[in-house]
Amino acid sequence: MEMRPNISTFLVVIFAIIILSKLAEGTTRHYKFDIKLKNVTRLCKTKSILTVNGKFPGPRLVAREGDRVVINVVNHVKNNVSIHWHGVRQLRSGWADGPSYITQCPIQTGESYVYNFTIVGQRGTLLWHAHISWLRVTIYGAIVILPKPRVPYPFEKPYKEVTLLLGEWFNADTEAIISQALQTGGPPNISDAFTINGFPGLLYNCSSSTNTSNPSDTYKLKVEPGKTYLLRVINAALNDELFFSIAGHTLTIVEADANYVKPFDANTIVISPGQTTNLLLRTKSSTPNSTFLIAIRSYNTGLGAFDNTTASAILEYPNTNQALTFLIIPPLPALNNTLFVTNFTTQLRSLASNQYPANIPTTVDRRFFFTVGLGTSPCPNNGTCQGPNGTKFAASVNNVSFALPSTALLQAYFFRRSEKVYTTDFPANPPFVFNYTGAPPNNTFVVNATKVEVLKFNTSVEVVLQDTSIQGIESHPLHLHGFNFFVVGQGSGNYDPMRDPPKFNLKDPVERNTFGVPSGGWVALRFLADNPGVWFMHCHIEVHMSWGLRMAWIVLDGELQNQKLPPPPLDLPKC
Ligand code: C2O
Repeated sequence: MEMRPNISTFLVVIFAIIILSKLAEGTTRHYKFDIKLKNVTRLCKTKSILTVNGKFPGPRLVAREGDRVVINVVNHVKNNVSIHWHGVRQLRSGWADGPSYITQCPIQTGESYVYNFTIVGQRGTLLWHAHISWLRVTIYGAIVILPKPRVPYPFEKPYKEVTLLLGEWFNADTEAIISQALQTGGPPNISDAFTINGFPGLLYNCSSSTNTSNPSDTYKLKVEPGKTYLLRVINAALNDELFFSIAGHTLTIVEADANYVKPFDANTIVISPGQTTNLLLRTKSSTPNSTFLIAIRSYNTGLGAFDNTTASAILEYPNTNQALTFLIIPPLPALNNTLFVTNFTTQLRSLASNQYPANIPTTVDRRFFFTVGLGTSPCPNNGTCQGPNGTKFAASVNNVSFALPSTALLQAYFFRRSEKVYTTDFPANPPFVFNYTGAPPNNTFVVNATKVEVLKFNTSVEVVLQDTSIQGIESHPLHLHGFNFFVVGQGSGNYDPMRDPPKFNLKDPVERNTFGVPSGGWVALRFLADNPGVWFMHCHIEVHMSWGLRMAWIVLDGELQNQKLPPPPLDLPKC
């Protein structure tokens, strides 16, 4: 009789231990992504677009820090597809990273591939998107990584959380646009609208969207007064950096690219393609007499044409009669306001707390100086091309315009079949020194090649990215796969290796996976190469990437077993 309570207590304790240890190691989340066509109507036109599960934008992926995520992607369309989990570190799971011809061959029609990875040491907002040609224009969605169970945010607990996916809409077929542009060498056609959660909003000229009382083309963010909302803002636009603002409301920035930052307030934020930002929005204490718009518009300093339209959504308080209220559009910075962008980006700082330290590499093993920017290629047909002076537009890193191979780099590397696929002589410095942000040199032709940079495991790397003015200065949001980097310095004009490094911030620089090389300036990044595999680095402005502004790092295996890349899954697609 006396034994019974002891045994049951014992069993309860055992169960509790099992459950707690299960919770600590995370759960597995399963998703199925069916790539299929769907008809949608925007700007008063119906168009068949590529989607995941018939949803536009695509489904939200939700997980907790420490969870395993398993996504079975099935391709039901004519195009080859692969999906990238942008910003997920993919520690020793490079086979699941997703860029076509870098870590995998694309999934062909009727085929499938299971992406399997664990989210380690990250929490916040990221995005997933197609990673081949321009298919990410409609194939994209949010990744929400919640903190581990019972771990609070390092800021006020929000009443509700909302995802705002910013996108770019083309009336025409984007695959036709980019393939034609690459053929003629000219600039591709620009988009027709920007979108917020898939909707362009009521500032576009289309009957279904100009009517404020029935804005079927407009996303509404329904809020209650006197509350704090966490907005997870994602720039999934193809070719444009964006200003984002909400009329009459101040925003508090608390996170960037799934890293907590020191909170600061702003009326307008800047967000580049591939970047994510979490904001706190405090609503008015009572329902106002105005209708406030959320608005986005391009930031662009390039020479070419770009979409200068404004997308909007409605911040909707309860019981407002929209027909009777004032519509307030937030003022946005001028389209080319680089000063505003610099002031914003230099305010971003890592939280750098005991709980969320900023582990900046303090010593540097290898230094790289990369010029990034636009250039040209000769016209093969002698003068019938539509790029600058009858040439073809190109873009490069250290004058190398990266050519995608016809098989995946990671496979070629892993199975030691790199011959004829890539060479390991990517230049650590530009081929010759010139005034990068001054008058362009005579020969601006790029070199087309598939060159990679090889790093030993645990190398601490510093990369200075220098914008060039060869085809006009322009901001380039560079994205690094497989790592976060610290933005230790930035400036305008040419980088000065003597005078600039002493000013680097090695205390609390922002930690991100995507950062805009300032238009006509430079940025210095540091990261630790602690993740074996092949990792893409490229401009997240899709047209620049198509023109070759991309390169790859190979990080070799370390000595220990847990520092090696495991073999690929059996269902890895074939080229
Ligand atoms: Cu979000 Cu390689 O891309």
